[in-house]
Amino acid sequence: MTVVELIERKRDGGRLTPEEWHSLMAAYARGDVPDYQVAALAMAVYFRGMDDAETEALMTAMLESGRRLDLSHLTVARVDKHSTGGVGDKVSIILAPLVAACGAAVPMMSGRGLGHTGGTLDKLESIPGFETRLTLEQAAKQVERIGCALIGQTREIAPADRRFYALRDATATVEAIPLIAASIMSKKLAEGLTGLVLDVKTGAGSFMPRLEDAIKLARTMIALGERHGCPTVALLTDMDAPLGEACGNAVEVVESIEVLRGGGPADLREVTLALAAEMLLVGKVAADRATARAKVAEALMSGAALAKFREIVQAQGGHPGAVDDPVKHLPQAPLQVEVAAERAGVVQRVEPRVIGRAITTLGGGRQRVDDEIDHAVGFRLRVKPGSAVRPGETLATILARDATTLEAAREALLRAIVIGEEAPPARRRVSHRITSGGLEELTGPGAT
Ligand code: URA
Repeated sequence: MTVVELIERKRDGGRLTPEEWHSLMAAYARGDVPDYQVAALAMAVYFRGMDDAETEALMTAMLESGRRLDLSHLTVARVDKHSTGGVGDKVSIILAPLVAACGAAVPMMSGRGLGHTGGTLDKLESIPGFETRLTLEQAAKQVERIGCALIGQTREIAPADRRFYALRDATATVEAIPLIAASIMSKKLAEGLTGLVLDVKTGAGSFMPRLEDAIKLARTMIALGERHGCPTVALLTDMDAPLGEACGNAVEVVESIEVLRGGGPADLREVTLALAAEMLLVGKVAADRATARAKVAEALMSGAALAKFREIVQAQGGHPGAVDDPVKHLPQAPLQVEVAAERAGVVQRVEPRVIGRAITTLGGGRQRVDDEIDHAVGFRLRVKPGSAVRPGETLATILARDATTLEAAREALLRAIVIGEEAPPARRRVSHRITSGGLEELTGPGAT
């Protein structure tokens, strides 16, 4: 069977067998199949879709194109979280030390920012010296020693996905649910986990703005995890506005440390604590939700989570002073300018995509994977949808490198923050919980 015949079959609505996906992805990872053929196949999948068996075959083929983190000798739970990404989403930086401080091993693999969304690795690299490029062996040793490592996708993990994802990004074929699910899970299942929590974002700033798409993506990933023996649970969380107040890189690390110290914005705390409890449950570190919540609260209140973060920063070469005195040790923008409301009213929207793109304009995000970023720039937002404002009241502080980008960011900010008359309808920060058993709509506060 030639690659052209496989493309033809998919184009005409047929299916590829597991053996065909396997040999195609192995050949692609070796460089034996050209990008243009795989791009054509990706576009055929985009229009024709893939059923569960094909999605599973592609995921397994990409997983098996590389190596796995071997932590099977550890007796404790090995859990991670994956977020589908958004603006101001610094949850991983808090969650990893928090859950590790509760006794689980957290081999956390994160990504870089691209487009309007930020990336955990970029944020962490605003800590002077912090090294995210660990080998699998280094990551395994660190997890064994201190219970956590914060790393990027190494060259050894799912190399077929690495190549395929970059190609999809350049050919407008990222937004296909089976391709996204197979891509994410090929990396997560390489971590050798005993449990995985998915933070699937919904709303204007998310990858999947429509609720039904977010649910479908979550279900597809859960099925892949469960079939590979990794209990997987998803929470649907809101990304209709930036999460927390800080949006950028260093400024998000500062806010993460505030949460690890027991403070921080309420929305960020709520989402983080819900995901942390879920990780303890899926890893069987806690037998029930009340115990999981109590463990998480204790790890924050006792300072154990903050101490664990300091340990991780030190283990990965970062300046430990960044944890205790972030303002002194993290990069600071030379221009820090407050922007005030021009009229009275109630904030209707804080458009996450506009804020995300403005971070890139400031120099803090990338258009292309190899762009350099400025860690110091970004925003500290002072309002949320529903906030009442008076004229002259501060909406946000812009952190900028120069006057030109500052002006562009000010214009974007005033466009992003829409002020009207009536309070907008409240949105749940954590709206649904999905397992292989079904979907649960979450209602009262603390339901998760
Ligand atoms: N993140 C991934 O790792 N893969 C996708 O396909 C989309 C988001």
